[in-house]
Amino acid sequence: MIAVATSEDELAGLCDRLRSLGIGSLEVVKPSDTRRVVLGTPDDGRNEVDLVVMLQAEGAMAVTRPDSGAALQAWFRDTRPVVFGGRLSVCQAWSTHDRSGLSGLIELGPGGFGSGRHPTTRQLIQALLTRIEGGERVLDVGCGSGILGLCALKIGAAGVVAVDVKPEAIQAAQRNAQINAMSDRLQATAADLGDIDATFDVVLANIARAGIVELAPELVSRVSPGGWLGVAGISPSQCSQIVDFLRPLEEIERRTSGEWSSLILAKAESWAP
Ligand SMILES: C[S@@+](CC[C@H](N)C(=O)[O-])C[C@H]1O[C@@H](n2cnc3c(N)ncnc32)[C@H](O)[C@@H]1O
Repeated sequence: MIAVATSEDELAGLCDRLRSLGIGSLEVVKPSDTRRVVLGTPDDGRNEVDLVVMLQAEGAMAVTRPDSGAALQAWFRDTRPVVFGGRLSVCQAWSTHDRSGLSGLIELGPGGFGSGRHPTTRQLIQALLTRIEGGERVLDVGCGSGILGLCALKIGAAGVVAVDVKPEAIQAAQRNAQINAMSDRLQATAADLGDIDATFDVVLANIARAGIVELAPELVSRVSPGGWLGVAGISPSQCSQIVDFLRPLEEIERRTSGEWSSLILAKAESWAP
């Protein structure tokens, strides 16, 4: 079966397109006031993965989904919305889970790492929840789906620049900004960090040890005096070494969840280059 997320406005056009591809029998699920998810199975046994690849290339938020049984139950379990402390929730746009009662909902289409389930993403979202006060300018390095920047905006940040080395991540972050009505506040770019000529109140980088070490001088220099840097994707044993690479920032928080650690490091108000 395939599942395709859309809006009420685009529902009729999507259904026409799916029928033209030989998916005659369609079920429309309404998981929220605004989200529509269309479910269907190709009548002619056509390969669903190929169909999804084609639909995604056309810009559709399409995924494959198990039809029934234990695989479908597992899929429902694994695609449940992720709730962060009653202020933020993250849900895949193509999920059929009921969104009512979810606070601060961010929806994500397919593409780009970051659904809110991985511990590294969760650690930086928790840091945002405790530290964002409102009005911050945020740099999201290695944005993947754009999840960190979108969460920051949802809880009060003023604007986000999101960078990634992968074109598909830039596309995903741009579309996710659009479906969450945040395109005017999130700029996604493939630019080198060295070409971003600005400093930010908050810099986030969930890019693993090697990426953090490689980009350490740029990460440090992009933090405004009085601002902070959050890094994730490192093991507990790598933390001290990473702190050394990121001097003169000062470690102010360390989170560990199983094999993953994250660090928050602050830049002094009095910092001068
Ligand atoms: C683990 S994912 C993190 C995605 C998302 N920020 C999150 O926290 O879930 C790492 C992302 O960083 C990107 N990346 C890796 N090295 C990078 C670099 N040097 N500059 C920019 N992006 C990078 C990868 O393409 C990938 O999308």
